[in-house]
Amino acid sequence: MKDIEFSFEDAIIPQQRILETAERLRPEIKIMANAISEGYEGDLASLCLLDDRLMLGKVRQAIGKNLQLKPVYLVVVGIGGSNLGTIAVQEAVLGKLYNQLTTATKVLYADTVDSDNINNIVTLVKPVLERGDNVVLNVISKSGTTTETIANAEVLIDLLRRHKKDCKNCVSVTSDKGSELWNIAVKEGINVLEIPKKVGGRYSVFSPVGLFPLGLLGLNIEQLLDGAIHVRDACIETNIEKNPAAISAAIQYLHYDSGKNISDLFLFANDLESLGKWCRQLMAESLGKEFNKKEEKVNIGITPVVSIGSTDLHSMAQLYLGGPYDKFTTFLSVENSNSHINVPTLEGYSKLVYGIQGKSLESIMGATVEGTKAAFRKGKRPFMEIKLPCKSEYSIGQFLQFKMIETIYLGYLLDVNPFDQPNVESYKEETRKILQKN
Ligand code: PA5
Repeated sequence: MKDIEFSFEDAIIPQQRILETAERLRPEIKIMANAISEGYEGDLASLCLLDDRLMLGKVRQAIGKNLQLKPVYLVVVGIGGSNLGTIAVQEAVLGKLYNQLTTATKVLYADTVDSDNINNIVTLVKPVLERGDNVVLNVISKSGTTTETIANAEVLIDLLRRHKKDCKNCVSVTSDKGSELWNIAVKEGINVLEIPKKVGGRYSVFSPVGLFPLGLLGLNIEQLLDGAIHVRDACIETNIEKNPAAISAAIQYLHYDSGKNISDLFLFANDLESLGKWCRQLMAESLGKEFNKKEEKVNIGITPVVSIGSTDLHSMAQLYLGGPYDKFTTFLSVENSNSHINVPTLEGYSKLVYGIQGKSLESIMGATVEGTKAAFRKGKRPFMEIKLPCKSEYSIGQFLQFKMIETIYLGYLLDVNPFDQPNVESYKEETRKILQKN
């Protein structure tokens, strides 16, 4: 299987400086390598998910049971780390228009408490229940107490109950073992899937959080994990020059240190937009911190931005190429699309744009990527490049794991804890207080 490729040639930082900075990661690389065999106890617990065959077995068993129901819809109820990974992988592999194109189980996401959105979900799901077909709910909340998730879950469980006498078989709860939500599910005989305690939301895509819904939709979750395992080995490589996560983290750290505090992930594939959003959360929540590890107030963080090529070249490129030198860009492109379309030779049209008739859309996209890179080089705008061979589970698994390790290395260089999110907790707490008062 072909691996994802990295190119750091346009980072506009001397190689020596990059390597010196990456060298600083050596102790963290060692800790990471050891953590893989240490189990779920430490902060790096997410790295152990990839080899957990017992967990995979339980997930497969739950998928099997749910498939017997032949669900028309799977509704994933969760927010942030509890659904972004699933959306990212589903759209990357199956496409954004999956629901319109599939004859298999369709998927809907209930995350925020937007009543119009939830009402649309209810409107789609209700007739299915009324005609006696099945809809499967996967309620995902690590804490079990996230306001939006619980509110949406109650609305949808209530809907299910009103149409199915014994609807518990159609609901699965993914949560920390022993959370209030977990306990209620167990009491009601609802199937539960465990998120290991030390695996945080944004690092949980390879846990039942992502694996159960993705497997239910027919994705090859074993391939997803295999890709992640493969890149994990490369990212704990002690030969620093060959360690893509260490090099990438060093480059981004050095640019941040010299005032480039925006990191733009420029994805040249429409179906990867949600992958960008997953990356955005990973970087923002992991590195945006009020305090460093020494408890000093630092208000630190790299601001992640997501751009879609070539769409955003017609929207953001003016700023990127003409605006302040405050950004570092990562271009991500896909070598092989799933389909091939050639521009036909329509009479009279050839004068509009020369050199496109008879060419594949892929090759036109390729030219756009090269053109964008050339413009960035001309403007001395630093960037790195990642090439996915295709949008398979294996490639996406590689990318996700690479990003998680890169983020942990960045946390080390910035001296912040990449695993907590105290300020997210504070908003949750304040919201709960307001709701309890009224
Ligand atoms: O990454 C995180 O920790 C957060 O984004 C959480 O995933 C999000 O707030 C949802 O939390 P929970 O899974 O507890 O409902």
